[in-house]
Amino acid sequence: MESRHLLQPSDFSIAEINDMLRLAKRIIQNPIAYSEVCKGKVLASLFYEPSTRTKFSFDTAMLRLGGQVIGFSDPTTSSTAKGETVADSALTISKYADIIVVRHPKEGTARLMSKHAECPVINAGDGGHMHPTQTLTDLLTIVSYKPEIKDLTVGVCGDLKFGRTIHSLVTCLARFENIRFVFISPDELKMPVYVKDELNKMGVEYTETSSLDESIGSLDILYMSRVQRERFISEEDYLRLKDYFILTKEKMKHAKEDMIVMHPLPRVNEIATEVDSDPRAVYFHQVKYGMYVRMALIMTLLGIKDPLCE
Ligand code: CP
Repeated sequence: MESRHLLQPSDFSIAEINDMLRLAKRIIQNPIAYSEVCKGKVLASLFYEPSTRTKFSFDTAMLRLGGQVIGFSDPTTSSTAKGETVADSALTISKYADIIVVRHPKEGTARLMSKHAECPVINAGDGGHMHPTQTLTDLLTIVSYKPEIKDLTVGVCGDLKFGRTIHSLVTCLARFENIRFVFISPDELKMPVYVKDELNKMGVEYTETSSLDESIGSLDILYMSRVQRERFISEEDYLRLKDYFILTKEKMKHAKEDMIVMHPLPRVNEIATEVDSDPRAVYFHQVKYGMYVRMALIMTLLGIKDPLCE
């Protein structure tokens, strides 16, 4: 049977995404019931780029499902250093593992690996392109704080040009009912045209601004993001733009009482630590939702039945 992969959020229908969110919620309610469902399964965790959350949450997700984890977070310790192609690495590693998670600085690498691997491949971030499992994390966070993913004004603030978490989230959220976007960025870091074209085709409403102060009061969700230093060609440009937006307690005074602040993390300087104690700041809760939704994703891609729904 052909393996199913997650390379971008559109690989799953909204109905399938909702099923995964419901499974993640059942895991949260009763983790013990799921603690052995992946016994005997091996996840290969291949990180060609640094990570804290995505790597550790996938590793712990598999361990908490009773499976095991192999892999690297430093590709120079693998045969990549000898010139092995990612295609050959994917085929080879899929001889040992049941599922592969890959992060790579080059756009399209997860897709390339999926064509050669003999098991499911999950894109854990490919360059400035997509980060679909962060999107699942974000959706589980939203349904945990809002009644539904519907009728929401979502402000997306920061580096909209290079932020792969943002491209994934916006193109996915646009498929839900009555979601409006406010894109908040400096001129040089605006949302890419290919994302806006997709929204235009879908008839999804969005506005663009460079002012967080003027837009914060209209938002149900404020999704902050860091300026992606590693994607800049010029360090000078990065230094000029890195502190363009800083969310402070003062700014939060102008936000709705039930607005939530999300961030994929890591944070650099764009949210002052004084905001962390505000009950609307949910970004560290978001981190934990990431582990649960990845447990649900691993089960789904491996075709493992939910023991509570048999
Ligand atoms: N959100 C996210 O992708 O974090 P890491 O880079 O630490 O994995």
